[in-house]
Amino acid sequence: MADRIYNPNPELAKKAHCKSMQQYKTMHEKSIEYPEAFWGEIAKEFYWETATSNDKFFSYNFDLNQGDIYIKWMEGATTNLSFNLLDKNVKCGNGEKIAFYWEGNDPDDYSKLTYKKLLQETCMFANVLKSKGVQKGDRVAIYMPMILELPIAMLACTRIGAVHSVVFGGYSSDSLAERIMDCKAKVLITADGVFRGEKLLLLKNICDDALTKVKAHGHEVECCVVVGHLRRLANPHGKITGETKNGVNGTSNGGSSEPNVSWDDDRDCWWHEEMEEAEPSCYPVWVAAEDPLFILYTSGSTGKPKGVLHTTAGYLIYAATTFKYVFDYKPGDVYWCTADIGWITGHTYVVYGPLANGATSVIFEGTPFYPHNDRYWSVIDKYKVNQFYTAPTAIRSLMKFGDELVKKHDLSTLKVLGSVGEPINSEAWLWFYNHVGHGKCSIADTFWQTETGGHVITPLPGATPMKPGSATFPFFGVLPELLDEDGRVIEGEGEGYLVFRRPWPGMMRSLYGNHDRFQTTYFDRFHGFYCTGDGARRDADGYLWVTGRIDDMLNVSGHLMSTAEVESVLTEHSDVAEAAVVSKPHPVKGQCLYCFVTPNEGRIFSKQLSDELKRKVREKIGPFAQPDVIQHAPGLPKTRSGKIMRRILRKIAIGDKNVGDVSTLADEAVVDVLFQLRP
Ligand code: PRX
Repeated sequence: MADRIYNPNPELAKKAHCKSMQQYKTMHEKSIEYPEAFWGEIAKEFYWETATSNDKFFSYNFDLNQGDIYIKWMEGATTNLSFNLLDKNVKCGNGEKIAFYWEGNDPDDYSKLTYKKLLQETCMFANVLKSKGVQKGDRVAIYMPMILELPIAMLACTRIGAVHSVVFGGYSSDSLAERIMDCKAKVLITADGVFRGEKLLLLKNICDDALTKVKAHGHEVECCVVVGHLRRLANPHGKITGETKNGVNGTSNGGSSEPNVSWDDDRDCWWHEEMEEAEPSCYPVWVAAEDPLFILYTSGSTGKPKGVLHTTAGYLIYAATTFKYVFDYKPGDVYWCTADIGWITGHTYVVYGPLANGATSVIFEGTPFYPHNDRYWSVIDKYKVNQFYTAPTAIRSLMKFGDELVKKHDLSTLKVLGSVGEPINSEAWLWFYNHVGHGKCSIADTFWQTETGGHVITPLPGATPMKPGSATFPFFGVLPELLDEDGRVIEGEGEGYLVFRRPWPGMMRSLYGNHDRFQTTYFDRFHGFYCTGDGARRDADGYLWVTGRIDDMLNVSGHLMSTAEVESVLTEHSDVAEAAVVSKPHPVKGQCLYCFVTPNEGRIFSKQLSDELKRKVREKIGPFAQPDVIQHAPGLPKTRSGKIMRRILRKIAIGDKNVGDVSTLADEAVVDVLFQLRP
């Protein structure tokens, strides 16, 4: 079954933006041979306050031998993102169209926002930011749950040319502090808290902790704006009866059951109080094509997170184009991406891509399991969703409950199913295809990264015959290659390092404040290519299969992290001398963390120590990083030069005695000891 080729549904193909492989090939060829003409045509659909000159449309250097790396699209042009996403849609008669349906954690909490209202709220909040002294180029940190104020805050930043840096609401106060300090944010926007399932997260308290740490390191955030989200949930009188409840329109007068939120009068202010005074219009600040749009932190293999920097014009046209073609979005469709906005998937495919297409989408605050394990299917049914974009880890966790829960709901509106975050195994692919899509939907297995800004390898729903587990072919403008260890291009069938030969409009431009690290991380391994850090295989039909990370990175439930960042938390413990972390395959999460820990002389490895270490990783990085296994390791397998051989540790983690050559180890006996100590 997994080897079979699944052709697009002919009904879907007939009406699709890209209807056949032939059309895909023609368009791809044009995008590579004549990028100015290809992207120039698309750029005409957007508003440019100043036009670009054609000879400057596209320039780059990918080869460190030729000097510094740079990537520029549409130099000379000026525009404003929020103007293109909001004003333009309102002006062309879509003001009353729904931009976002908001579905709360509790099924009784829901709301919606039209394009006109979204524009107004954006302008009002842009004025609030201005009143706090935020100017073009200033960084604004955002630590929020999946509520409508989150896209409003992002769009408000773009309105005035400020650079947002959204930090995923599941990160710890340490991680938040580190990111705020790195980008030197002037303002922080958050909410009092949020319920995820039955769990209450007090976000403002986490922010307070983070801001204390930030201050101790000599940086001060001038203002913290707090959405009273729990207050409006806790207060039944604040609920607007009828169709709209508890969204942006909900009032926040406080209620008796509201939790304690710590407060600094000189620094903190409530969102709803600031908005009361704010003017409903705000003239957009025109920014240059290559002005920064946002910074989004992603894990780096040396531990310190990398501030991936995206700029304005190229990101806009790439987000818009990938959204249109990869989800085959048509006016009137309802689209839903389950990703948190705190990740790149949420930036590009919850906020920017859909709005650039005037789309209607769902923003979901909750979890797939609350109040019941059929929540996803009930939301698809409720909003009559046409395109549904989620992650393999979510699919695998829902497969466990069988297809009975899926069958309870009408999913017949679905046309396109998307997958992102990690390789999708063929079992999960087939279950998604057969039981959720009833064999009628195309599956878009989209390969991309925080760094790529948008999809780079993906099928197109009406055109690409699918193979379960293959991300298939490059998107327009993208030229992938597979390289061997020595940097030689592998032609035809084969497996190697996945790299790209030239930039597409939406790719990152730098690492914030550290262009050197940008160059060494992505361009030093193979000169002339952007190196993804992933391996891939090309089959006899030319299909690309991404096989996973080939650096010291782990992918747990689609969350990327480095072994180094987890190891450094473990070794901070006073009882720990050394630690080595590897990944172990996991049936739902894809990979999980398996940690080897050597206690200090005289210290005993105990369950208590193991529990403490797990808690420490949760606290320092975030709950998603909690290790599954902490194993006692009196010694680690090291080469004579002292390098830990992780290859052997990975074998021990899965209990595979076939460890291969151990002759280079300083002490071979260590391997047997570690097998014996497996928990
Ligand atoms: O290893 C690849 C994996 O996720 C990494 C990027 O993670 P991040 O920057 O957090 O962005 C995730 C969402 C775009 C990649 O280097 N990855 C992502 N999508 C796929 C994938 N691996 C295989 N197939 C995919 N479809």
